[in-house]
Amino acid sequence: MRGNAGDRAVPHAGAWQAAHTRSLAEPEGFWGEAAAAVDWHRPWARVLDDSHPPFYRWFAGAELNTCYNAVDRHVAAGRGEQPAIIHDSPVTGTLTTITYADLQRRTARFAGMLLELGVERGDRVVVYMPMVPEAAIAMLACARIGAVHSVVFGGFSARELATRIDDAKPKVVVAASCGIEPNRIVPYKPLLDDAIAQARHKPERCVIFQREQQPAALSPGRDLDWAEHMATATPAECVPVAATDPLYILYTSGTTGQPKGVVRDNGGHAVALTWSMRHVYDVEPGEVFWSASDVGWVVGHSYIVYAPLLYGCTTVFYEGKPVGTPDAGAFWRVIEQHKVSVLFTAPTALRAIKRDDPAAKHLARYDTSSLRALFLAGERCDPNTLDWAGEILDVPVVDHWWQTETGWAIAANCLGLEQLPIKSGSPTKPVPGYDVQVLGDDGLPVAAGGIGRIMIKLPLPPGCLPTLWGDDARFQASYLSAEPGYYLSGDAGYLDEDGYLFVMSRIDDIINVAGHRLSTGGMEAVLAGHPDVAECAVIGVADTLKGELPLGLVVLKSGVDRDGADISRELVAKVREEIGPVAAFKRVLVVPRLPKTRSGKILRGTMKHIADGTEYRPPATIDDPLILEEIQGALAAAGFGGSD
Ligand code: COA
Ligand code: AMP
Repeated sequence: MRGNAGDRAVPHAGAWQAAHTRSLAEPEGFWGEAAAAVDWHRPWARVLDDSHPPFYRWFAGAELNTCYNAVDRHVAAGRGEQPAIIHDSPVTGTLTTITYADLQRRTARFAGMLLELGVERGDRVVVYMPMVPEAAIAMLACARIGAVHSVVFGGFSARELATRIDDAKPKVVVAASCGIEPNRIVPYKPLLDDAIAQARHKPERCVIFQREQQPAALSPGRDLDWAEHMATATPAECVPVAATDPLYILYTSGTTGQPKGVVRDNGGHAVALTWSMRHVYDVEPGEVFWSASDVGWVVGHSYIVYAPLLYGCTTVFYEGKPVGTPDAGAFWRVIEQHKVSVLFTAPTALRAIKRDDPAAKHLARYDTSSLRALFLAGERCDPNTLDWAGEILDVPVVDHWWQTETGWAIAANCLGLEQLPIKSGSPTKPVPGYDVQVLGDDGLPVAAGGIGRIMIKLPLPPGCLPTLWGDDARFQASYLSAEPGYYLSGDAGYLDEDGYLFVMSRIDDIINVAGHRLSTGGMEAVLAGHPDVAECAVIGVADTLKGELPLGLVVLKSGVDRDGADISRELVAKVREEIGPVAAFKRVLVVPRLPKTRSGKILRGTMKHIADGTEYRPPATIDDPLILEEIQGALAAAGFGGSD
């Protein structure tokens, strides 16, 4: 079956409503038609297999290959000489273009190399790499042979990598020798060695991509040099896999230290992402799509690698920061140089640019006329930043809401259907396929404007997680048990009288630091492991650049008479060591006591209000109001709770 990415309706008034209504009323018709844009080896028996609720599977019985759809078919259709990947790396001062034909050759060879290492269909491969195209080649090569990749973000510690290795049990790990941050080289290989030493599961082989900035010593018998083995590997063809087979596992913060292995399938994923390129982002095959994120995050999986390639776009791999590489004009330079049509980034990146260049003087140096829209996600976008970006760029700025679990947008202004009026602070309306409802504690829909739990009525559309890796029970307990027939997003918010969604906060202990999702519970577990700490709390405090920053509050064990500042430094180092620099955990206050309810629950939410300087009412169940006053004093003395 051949895909037909060519036909399209021009965006028009009423198109969002019509598409959304139909997607819920006739999901099989809606997604069955969307699936025509993908090439299949074998058609499905059913578009939606709903025979085992609350587990739903899309395109059951069908077979396809995701790598074929993302690479080979474009070469066959004449896109071989089109750039597939542009690696723009200000941190190394290099610019490399890989055409679709090159990508096919390199992916086929790497897939052949994996086969030679004994990787079989269904085996896992962990990928621990920075923003280099080899990361995409490794991912696509896994897809080519039906192996399951699990990419781990480079800013995590060896311990976090070990946890993921133990859960995914990879046969092979693919890593780079180092990553490059503006202020330092991050040696990945020692982190990998440390992770393997800590992990109970030992991968058989590690393939190391040597970067000239810091090549790594290889462990004989276990490690292989990427370049050396690529030179002799036999190219491998794409193998058909079941639409319902896993394509990848991506670990994300849960409410405990044990991350959740979000599973993505092949068929629903290819259909949903291809549909989204046209209908959400309004791009055409052949255009340049730039997602300024990292392959280690879901945004990187979906919109640096898979969606742009599935759709025949050119994707930009940007190895740099929004500021400092070299300045706050970096994003505008990339847009001009590569003629980017659509940019996707996190609000924190824009806040960084705005902080360094509030009058957008750098923008005037570049021709950004190719840009048609800017999409933002990863955290709530404050209206100031959204409005500022709209004014300076003079293109629609679309805040859209999604999660690692869904893999693509739940709510957005779908520019390819119709551009709805923008309301700052809202990611607009549910995307077709998502039946978004705001439910109160009684399980009933909350009236317009009332805050409640944001839930999605099952089935989730194609592309969303079918389960957690090896743990159907945790999948059900975490997401499906709050209200029968609904998926619990973990976010709270409201729908206004026009049906616009407002996502306001998390209902669990997850915080968003510079668009990175982190668990305060995980950080608390690290603090609690320090021999001098009796009890502790970590809260996410509002930050003008990163959205939120973690702040630790610790009570020392009685009899500990060491300097609190020394202990704080040790705790900061411990979180960096055990979770990673990405946690941006830099501040700890030693306090005499923590405020609690009479039943012993620490009042984290109340402390957050105090630290943010926002209004709060202490709960009626508070145990000792004096402790709250003490905390207020400690936070004020540390510079929190002010009006700025
Ligand atoms: N490998 C190793 N370390 C990494 C890393 C990686 N891939 N990515 C980040 N880190 C480190 C950084 O070096 C930094 O370490 P430091 O404490 O020694 O300085 C720490 O993790 C925090 O990094 P980051 O969040 O990038 O903060 P920053 O202060 O260096 O930069 C911003 C701030 C706003 C410029 C930056 O966070 C940014 O560009 N954010 C956009 C985020 C994004 O795209 N999110 C994806 C969701 S769409
Ligand atoms: P992640 O799984 O890392 O993509 O993080 C998902 C979480 O980030 C969501 O559950 C929200 O809490 C938050 N988030 C992502 N995008 C938005 C957005 N546009 N508005 C508000 N919150 C967002």
